Amino acid sequence: MARILTGIQSSGRPHLGNILGAIKPAIDLSKHPDNESFLFIADLHSLTTIKDGSMRREFTRAVASTWLAFGLDTEKNTFWRQSRVAEHTELSWHLSCFTPIPMLNNATSFKEKSERSSGPVNTGLFVYPVLQAADILLYDAEIIPVGKDQRQHIEMTRDIASIFNRQYDDEVFVLPEARIDNRLMTIPGIDGAKMSKSYNNYIDIFLSENELWKVIKKIKSDSTPLEEPKNPDTDITFQLYSLLASDEQIADMRGLYEGGNFGYGTAKKAFYELILTLFAAERERFDYYMTNNDALEAELRAGEEKARVVAGKTIARVRKKLGFN
Ligand code: TRP
Repeated sequence: MARILTGIQSSGRPHLGNILGAIKPAIDLSKHPDNESFLFIADLHSLTTIKDGSMRREFTRAVASTWLAFGLDTEKNTFWRQSRVAEHTELSWHLSCFTPIPMLNNATSFKEKSERSSGPVNTGLFVYPVLQAADILLYDAEIIPVGKDQRQHIEMTRDIASIFNRQYDDEVFVLPEARIDNRLMTIPGIDGAKMSKSYNNYIDIFLSENELWKVIKKIKSDSTPLEEPKNPDTDITFQLYSLLASDEQIADMRGLYEGGNFGYGTAKKAFYELILTLFAAERERFDYYMTNNDALEAELRAGEEKARVVAGKTIARVRKKLGFN
């Protein structure tokens, strides 16, 4: 069994880019019989940026509902909220006492965040990688599927684990490996730039039909007149459509673009309809969990109990080494 682990920040409602780029690939990986996945909502990490409690609650529920809507098997795998398993913060403190400050000073993500910030940044942002190391080491995770931007954090986790193991001359922690899937395409947003919450160009597939159509209508297109043939390869609607459609549907759509007398509005309508049919079940399950908080809580609490068993064993091992037992 390979132990896979990844954390998902609850800093917004997941959009199509998150779903195709991270959530679906992680769920596919979790389905493999040789894998056991540990997937958690990094709500403590979200505190470095989001201070509003009701926002965090809302985003955490939306993230959890999305994973459940897309069919994460919570029996086979473990799915929990980081903040509900206190061992994350405990181990984070232990590890911070083994983390050289220059290592944190070198973190690209920290440098970028502090450069973008107008005022002084908070300490949580600085020690962010230590909490992330605790998340990983607590579960003896071997493989960490993440985006390119997280490679350095996984390297830091290995470094911190090595320092600790060397200090006690024992394999207390498993050294994890990042798995970065370079084949994963960037999903374009409605303006053609990378789909991102911070660019406000994202498609939330869980919106009501009206709201969804309003967003899709706004996808950027050029001003080629209706009668003229259109180039599908430079059109954002076509690119988005192609991410979801079957090969046959894509070929048909290409024909329509190239044939002329076909407007972008019709293409957008087709993309909108495709989302509704393709994700009909997921939209229904998302609404179910968003409106039945008890059902959502039951899933998460069961996951938290499972997570605590594994985390508890690791922290007992660590406390013993440190003389806290
Ligand atoms: N920092 C990660 C991100 O922003 C989220 C995260 C927190 C994470 N803890 C983790 C990812 C542990 C992998 C493993 O995407």
